Formats: sequence, structure tokens, C-alpha cells
Amino acid sequence: MRVLGIETSCDETAVAIVEAPAGNAPIGRILANVIYSQLSEHRRFGGVVPEIAARAHLERIDGLLADALAEAGLGLEDLDAIAATGGPGLIGGVMVGVMTAKALAFAHDKPFLAVNHLEGHALSVRLTEDVGFPYLLLLASGGHCQLLTVRGPGDFTRLGTTIDDAAGECFDKTAKLLGFGFPGGPAIEQRAKEGDAQRFALPRPMWRKRGCDFSFSGLKTAVRQAVEKLPPGDPQAVADLCASFQRTVGDVLADRCANALVLAPSSTLVVAGGVAANAYLRGRLEATASEHGARLVAPPVKLCTDNGAMIAWAGLERFRLGMTDALDFRPRPRWPLDALSKVAT
Ligand code: KG4
Ligand code: ZN
Repeated sequence: MRVLGIETSCDETAVAIVEAPAGNAPIGRILANVIYSQLSEHRRFGGVVPEIAARAHLERIDGLLADALAEAGLGLEDLDAIAATGGPGLIGGVMVGVMTAKALAFAHDKPFLAVNHLEGHALSVRLTEDVGFPYLLLLASGGHCQLLTVRGPGDFTRLGTTIDDAAGECFDKTAKLLGFGFPGGPAIEQRAKEGDAQRFALPRPMWRKRGCDFSFSGLKTAVRQAVEKLPPGDPQAVADLCASFQRTVGDVLADRCANALVLAPSSTLVVAGGVAANAYLRGRLEATASEHGARLVAPPVKLCTDNGAMIAWAGLERFRLGMTDALDFRPRPRWPLDALSKVAT
């Protein structure tokens, strides 16, 4: 079974083709995975500009589609279904991906699948790792920070979410204050390697509170105040602040995951989304998981940040269960994962 996936919900234009046997087993094969990052087009604005993103997706999508088919050595007739991110995301970009997928599906008489971007992150681990349902998931990206029990495609129970900013957003805003540019996560991780993680005591919102919700806005404010007081021209102080900030985020994520492992015990904790690319945070979560008798599993780093393979894979998982979509599907700027299923009480 082969599914093509298109991702255009933010600033990466990505197309991939994945393959797996029929059934419900994890682990597939990536036949092609091409990506065009629009970073250079947005950098001078300090963030993603929706109109520029939509136009760049439109300019690139046909070429990337041809590249993906060439990389896989396949024609469109060799595919079983066409998937695209149907939301949530920047609506102009989502429309480009959805319309492209619908046109391909219609012209070649293939089933169409509208994939929730968050479900793409949530299931991506099963593309490369032998992880069975159910599992506990920390989804931490630029737009989201949630803990969920994942029972299968379209079957999620949300245990907690952020009441304000997302974890990745907090990394990005901290990086911007320090003049690192966008996206901030990788730059902070790099600088933190040379820093003293104990030098700055920053607030840990929600730490040791009941439940599994997150909050990052207080941390962001504290970082701004710390940056204002930094001695000028002192790279060590900057590295120390990066390390202290990263440690603080680690404390919060570990504490929230520990609560989740008690409230909804699971033998597997999965971390996904762009923030899961952070090796220090993975280490912290690994320790938390093992303290609770669980193992931590994370997708390979290049499948943590936005990519087409996760959309193709989630599409394939849905397709195997017969969960296809009609061609009148409307792209959704907002589409919470728990709208696919139930919210925990
Ligand atoms: O999943 P993703 O590519 O896009 C969204 O769906 O949001 O996540 C992007 C986010 C950005 O906020 C970026 O700063 C963060 O993931 N990120 C990281 C790292 N790499 C990317 N955060 C911390 N450490 C990293 N190494
Ligand atoms: Zn994402």
C-alpha cells in the first residue's frame, strides 16, 4: 500500500510517499521525502508571513511533487491514495495542499485523505518504530503543547494542553529576544551546550500543580526581564541563560509528563513535534519515563519537525481503516485533535 502526503500548513512545502503492508502494523518505508523550507523568505520578518507562505507553497508544490515521484521511481498510477494536511494551520497554505491533493485524486481516480496536522505528528513515531496503540503522547511544537492518550487514528483523549503559549513558541520568543533569528529552538539548544543551567532561576509555570496542563507565558516574561539585565557583550551570560531556560522547560515538561503517566499509565511515552528534536529535552523525558516504568520513544529528528512523510503515514493509517474523505472537504484553520474524538473529564 502506497500513499502520497502533502504538507503545506506552515512554512515548509513537503511531499512524501510512504509504503506499508495492509493491516494495522506499525513501521513503514519512506520511498520519497522532499521538503522545501521557506525560512529564507520569512527570516527578515522574524516570523512566518501567511501570504508569503501561501504564494511560496503554490510556486513550489508542482516541482516537489515531480521530485518525490522521481525519488521513489513511481508514477501517480502506482499510488493507492493521496493525502494532504487539511488543517490546522495557515489557511492559504492549507488550501494549496488540499487543492493539489484533491486535483490529483480526482484526475487519477484515487481516494483522498484530509489529515489533521497534529495527527500527523501524533502517529509519525509508528512510521519508524514498533509502537503499538495505546500510548501516551507529548506533542510539543511551535503551535501546540498537549498530552494525549493515542488509541488509534482519530481516537485521542486529551489529558492536558497549554493555557497560553506553546513550548516551541516560547523557544522562538526567547531566541528572538536574544537576537538569534527564527526558528529559535535549534539555536537555543546549541548555545545551551556551553551554558550553566543553574545560573538563572526562572519561574516554572504549572510545575507540581495537579493535572497535565501547561503554561509558558510567565516564563516568557521572566526571560524578557532577564535579557534586559544581561551584561552587554557577554556571550557566557547568554549561553547560561539559554541553558537555564532550556532546563526550566525541561523541568515543566518532565513534571507534566510524570503526572500524565500517573493519571493515564502507559508503558510507552512518545514525544513528537518540533520541540522533540531537542536532545536535552529528550534526555529529561527519558528519565521521567523510566522513573514510571515506561520507555520513551521519539521519531528520528528529521521526522519531528514538519515534513510530508508524517502526513503520508497518517494518511496511510487512515486509509487502511477505510477512513477516506470526500472531495468537498473544506480546509480548516482550526481543528483540535480532540474534535476527532473525546476530551478527558
Ligand atoms: O512541529 P514544527 O516543525 O511546526 C509546528 O507544527 O509548529 O515545530 C516547530 C517548532 C518551533 O517552535 C521550533 O523552534 C521548535 O519546534 N524546535 C525546537 C528544536 N527544533 C525545532 N525547539 C527546541 N529545540 C530544538 N532543537
Ligand atoms: Zn507541526
